[in-house]
Amino acid sequence: MRKPVIFITGAGGEIGHGLITRLASSGRPIVTLDLAPLDASLAKLVQREFLGSILDAGLLERILSEFEVDLVFHLAALLSARSEFTPMRAHEVNVEGTLTLLEFAQKEAESHGRPVKFLYPSSIAAYGLPNLATKQAAGLVREDDFNHPTTMYGANKLYCEMLGRYYARHYKQLAAEHLSGKVDFRSVRFPGLISAVTMPSGGTSDYAPEMIHAAARGESYACFVRPDTQIPLMVMPDGVEALIRLAEAPQESLTRTAYNVAAFNPTAAEIERVVRAAFPTVAITYVNDRKRQGIVDSWPAAVDDSAARRDWGFAPQYDFERGFSEYLIPTIRQQYQ
Ligand code: SER
Repeated sequence: MRKPVIFITGAGGEIGHGLITRLASSGRPIVTLDLAPLDASLAKLVQREFLGSILDAGLLERILSEFEVDLVFHLAALLSARSEFTPMRAHEVNVEGTLTLLEFAQKEAESHGRPVKFLYPSSIAAYGLPNLATKQAAGLVREDDFNHPTTMYGANKLYCEMLGRYYARHYKQLAAEHLSGKVDFRSVRFPGLISAVTMPSGGTSDYAPEMIHAAARGESYACFVRPDTQIPLMVMPDGVEALIRLAEAPQESLTRTAYNVAAFNPTAAEIERVVRAAFPTVAITYVNDRKRQGIVDSWPAAVDDSAARRDWGFAPQYDFERGFSEYLIPTIRQQYQ
């Protein structure tokens, strides 16, 4: 039998970075797919690096024939801001790409006879609150509430959660043989993720990481949302840990296919306060971008993650204070020194 491998798409992105570093210590072989070559520091941690598109069915076929995959982290996506400029492309990458990968996982499982776990990062962008007053009154938003995203990216993520659930529970439900469940689909609805080692590109929650990184580089920052803007955020180590913990959870303990996870929900002004405390000379101003503000205002201020805590023991290590004082500030300082 070939040794089962972990397959990661979009491996060179922000989550991939943290995930590969974390998974490499487990000793499981990793195979990656990305449009761009991995950083040298990551490339040496993976068994095989494929360069190419998730939409290239021929390439996926080749990977399928060479490797036995039993765990997929499908991270490749266009984020929310970029997707608004190229919605057709967003649909291709975010939806058709995910469908192609789900079909890949189905074929893998059919060929080796065991379920393939399929980990999928969804997002708070899957929510769409109709106005600020509703957002302020909503409290902790649960997974099945306010599922009316206003962005292409959010619509793509929500639909792909449905596609994953379809493969896991109802795939070809009228066929003679029982074919569903071969893809063991598990999704985390992430808050805005903040990494100390990489910069986001093309997201709408980017104001948070941009403010921190700009301050550490000694640059000024014009924040594109109002100071009172509040959305859920999480530091990358907790994001990576959530994916790994959900991957490891026994299937019988899972009651959903998509789970909220939460860590802290600061306003932009609160982020400014801790950034200023660490980098006192930084110049931060607010130059509101009405359109991007509108997107952030449609995302919840806070989400209810009790299902994740109950079903698979989700427990973030970093709250707002610790996230900054023990992870973001020291790691970023070191990086720019
Ligand atoms: N951080 C993402 C974005 O802003 C949300 O998933 O697009």
